[in-house]
This record gives sequence, C-alpha cells and structure tokens, in this order.
Amino acid sequence: MKKRLGSVQKVSSFDLMPDRMIAKKYRVLSQLGAGWEGEVYKILEVNTKIERAAKLFFPQRNIRNKTSKRNAQKLHKLRYCPILIQYHTEEELIYKKMPVTVLISEYVEGQLLSEFLKSLPGKRMDPYQALHLLYALVKGVEEIHLLNEYHGDLHTDNIIVNKFGLRFELKLVDLFHHTAPKNKTRQIDILALIQIFHECMGGQKWYAKMPQPAKYICCGLKGSLILKKFPTASQLREHLEQMEWMGTGA
Ligand SMILES: Nc1ncnc2c1ncn2[C@@H]1O[C@H](COP(=O)(O)OP(=O)(O)O)[C@@H](O)[C@H]1O
Ligand SMILES: [Mg+2]
Repeated sequence: MKKRLGSVQKVSSFDLMPDRMIAKKYRVLSQLGAGWEGEVYKILEVNTKIERAAKLFFPQRNIRNKTSKRNAQKLHKLRYCPILIQYHTEEELIYKKMPVTVLISEYVEGQLLSEFLKSLPGKRMDPYQALHLLYALVKGVEEIHLLNEYHGDLHTDNIIVNKFGLRFELKLVDLFHHTAPKNKTRQIDILALIQIFHECMGGQKWYAKMPQPAKYICCGLKGSLILKKFPTASQLREHLEQMEWMGTGA
C-alpha cells in the first residue's frame, strides 16, 4: 500500500513475498516483524547460504535516509557490544518504483522476551529468574552506556532471548534516536530495565507478592526513586552483584 505525502511516498506495508530478491543478493524467507520505522525480514544471502535479517525503512520514516543512517552508524560504533546485533551492510530495494533503504544485519535465533513470558506457567517468571534476566540486560546495557550511547527503546518486543540453564543470552534490536540530552536518554534506558524486570515478575498484579529485594529495585516504578538509587547502569549492576536475596517468598 502507498500514499503520497508531499514529495515522499507513504508506505504502510511492503508485504514482501517469500522468494522476492533484495539487491540481487538476498532472497526473502519470511517476515519477522513490523513496527513504526519499517519491516524486518529473514533473508538468505544466496551465494553463501547464510541467513540474515533485513530491515526495510518506510520512506516517510526515513527522509533523506536519516533514520537508517543513524541506525547503521550507531550499530557500527557499538559493534563490540555483544548484546547488540551485528550490522553488515546497506542495500536498496526498488518497491513500486521507489528506492527503499534496507539495512542487513545478523539474524538472531531465539524468542522475543514477550513470547518467552507468554510461554511460561502463569505468564511470568520466578523473581529469582527475573533477577538473572535483569542482570544480563544491565551488563549489556552498561557497556553501551560506557561508550556514551544508549538504546532508547528497551521493551519486551526488542529483546531476543536464548536461555541456557541459569544464564540468559540476550540480543537487543531496534535502537531509537531521542532528541533529549545523552544523560537523560541513559536514564530512559535504566527506567525501561526496571519496568521490564517488573513486567517479567507479573507486573502490578503481583507487586504485593514480590520479595522485598525485588521491590527495593522496582521502587513501585517511581522514576525519581529509581534514578536516585541507581543513577547509572553500573550502579544497578553493582547492586545486583552485592545484594542479599532472601528467597522467593513474600
Ligand atoms: N536481527 C534480527 N534477527 C531476528 N529477528 C529480528 C531481528 N531484527 C528484528 N527482528 C524481529 O523483527 C521485529 C521487528 O524489528 P524491529 O527492529 O524491532 O523493528 P520495528 O522498528 O519495526 O519495531 C522484532 O521484534 C524481532 O521480532
Ligand atoms: Mg521493535
């Protein structure tokens, strides 16, 4: 579907069919997701038979390639942060005679955190397990913050989870650009981490039953209290490494 928007064609969905080629190199396998900026497909690099992911940007969300360029540059700058997906290259797709920018990155296997939660009994984690997830997230995000950057859109649909025993292996997708000052954007990440922790334990409905050390971290989701206790991701990580945990009871 497309509509005119000033001089830019507005696209609300590309709906690429399986087997469609991108830049003569990649074959579409399936759609992985869609959102505000565009659509993401699982693709096959035909020559190497390597699976990758392709993010197609809606032209109206990517005027003069600003969004895609910022995304690619930031992923490149943060390429040694293991919690982020690896960016490979930029390509172009012609869709209904329009040039569409496509970012190719690694394809990450696993489940979205939102789906993982839905698959659990009671659709929530044991608080101690949620604490392990939070720890893995905080360590990953801390590295991004120490490079003076931020993620900007942390929520359960932007986190891909693989679980091995106690350990969570996580990958973050979908960086978001905020116009706020950098220290504010890092605070947005910290608040989002606590919000995710809270959601993993069942959210507001289960708050009263959460163990005291979990409540200490959540601060009733009051932003100012959270940031007073944990002004940086490093401080939150240190807290998790040193805290006392009395068990899972109320
Ligand atoms: N590199 C990837 N590997 C596997 N799945 C991905 C990858 N990137 C995105 N996805 C999937 O596609 C969905 C949408 O991608 P995302 O980058 O979050 O775009 P949007 O801006 O549309 O939210 C994600 O929620 C995830 O399920
Ligand atoms: Mg997303």
